[in-house]
Amino acid sequence: MLANSLPQRRDVTEGRTEPTGKKTCPQSHWNTHKTDTVVSTVTAPPYMNGTNGLNGTHGVVATNGLNGTNGVNGTTNGVNGTSNGSGESWEKQFLPPPLQLDDKARAIKVESRLSGLVLCGATLKRVAEVFAHEIENGLRQKPSSLQMENTYVPELPDGTEEGVFLALDLGGTNFRVLYLELCGGELVREDVKHYHISDELRLGPGEDLFNFLADCVLDFLRSEGMEKDELSLGFTFSFPMKQHSISSGELITWTKSFKCGGMAGVDVAALLQRCLNDRGLKVTVQVLLNDTTGTLVAGAHLDPEVAIGVILGTGSNGCYMERADRVVHWESSYERVHDVCVDIEWGAFGDNGCLNFLRTDFDEEVDRNSLLATSFTFEKYIGGKYLGDLLCAVLGGLARDGLFPATPVWGELQSAHVSMFEEENSVGDWEQTAEALCEACGGALISRADAFVAQHVARVISNRAAQLVSVCIATLLRRMNRNHTAVAVDGSVFKRHPRIRNLMNKYIALLAPKDKFTLLGAEDGSGKGSALTAAIAARVAARST
Ligand code: BGC
Repeated sequence: MLANSLPQRRDVTEGRTEPTGKKTCPQSHWNTHKTDTVVSTVTAPPYMNGTNGLNGTHGVVATNGLNGTNGVNGTTNGVNGTSNGSGESWEKQFLPPPLQLDDKARAIKVESRLSGLVLCGATLKRVAEVFAHEIENGLRQKPSSLQMENTYVPELPDGTEEGVFLALDLGGTNFRVLYLELCGGELVREDVKHYHISDELRLGPGEDLFNFLADCVLDFLRSEGMEKDELSLGFTFSFPMKQHSISSGELITWTKSFKCGGMAGVDVAALLQRCLNDRGLKVTVQVLLNDTTGTLVAGAHLDPEVAIGVILGTGSNGCYMERADRVVHWESSYERVHDVCVDIEWGAFGDNGCLNFLRTDFDEEVDRNSLLATSFTFEKYIGGKYLGDLLCAVLGGLARDGLFPATPVWGELQSAHVSMFEEENSVGDWEQTAEALCEACGGALISRADAFVAQHVARVISNRAAQLVSVCIATLLRRMNRNHTAVAVDGSVFKRHPRIRNLMNKYIALLAPKDKFTLLGAEDGSGKGSALTAAIAARVAARST
């Protein structure tokens, strides 16, 4: 039976370039991440027990809160003494472990300098409240930093999805073209080809980029001997859009490493369609979707309880199934639609200033040096594209204060370094950390204690990223109020950071203690999820004719 056989799979890489002429960091075991096996006991936050603690002043503190000033002693948040019975207060469970150095004075000074990055439970609660408020405003089309975009995806897979589809995946520096065949909801064939997108294309005129995408489709179909075939296409466009229907939408702003000109008000699906038509291809853009939507749909295919999709990769974002009547932006009738997938675009959370209380001087530096300054501020706290820069900014700040031997060269530390430092730290090693830092700092001498300082910084910024993404997920869980919700998650940070998954499990449980959830790794929302979404769209269209 086709449906039970393994999908045929071909994977070809086209025009990919590896960075050259750069010093390489030791990578011997970077990709073999261990998983944090510690499962934390959590206790209900005070606000679930009727204790209010909204003033949540944060970052006022020295060190990591062990001195009792990071909201732990109750001076700012009223949670004094709440305990889980094992002696650990709710507040304390948010704190990263202290920095242990022989030189205690240095450890205290380092922790003091990092205090703004250490978020106490009250601050996270405040972020959750702001997020919930922004969600409501966004859905009602009132001023909000959250787009809350109607994706027009009205249902999830039911196992009847059939057909052959092309899928395009645009979001990173590699563009993918896929051919997918679904039979009884199962993927039975998948051919994929990767194409490198040059800096010139990512930063040049939008028309050039879309012509390139259509050239890639032509190349792919030629290599498959299918250039004459009539095919439906799902376009995963992983940028914020204003969607007019399931198959059309305008780019709102570029993010991550894209900044093409001439795209204001342009319908990206229509532009792609025109470029495909120009090449004589009989390919129809049937659905336009975001990678989070694809992840949710691909996840729901694995587990029917999936109702939230999250990307924690280069960028970060989430989507969820919302009641259709709570969404104001509809450009078509939705009488028969009960729920609809809403793309939150939480990367832009705080762009209106509502999260300024979180911002540190390190964040300012990351933002100033980014391709798209002053936009997508929240993404810059959690996205893999920025964690390396944040590490760099913090170490540079410590160097200026005489607490670290040198300032790393900007751009030389990536999120893979954050993962590697965390991994070494978990086994008590430091040599690879020191070697990578020595390279990033132009050959500076890095001692064991310096490496531990950098590992502590990696820990603190990872902890904050995990907490902030957990706040978003916990707020959605509380809003959706289901018996159990599975959250489909994809993205390089989620997959490769050695601690992030366990940290998220812990923090979501702390922030939404009454809501049962499971984090489900969902692969390839941009491919399989896109094909499934195209099949869902075809099913819905057939039903309404
Ligand atoms: C984009 C989102 C996308 C996320 C993850 C963000 O920069 O705005 O649309 O879902 O990255 O790829």
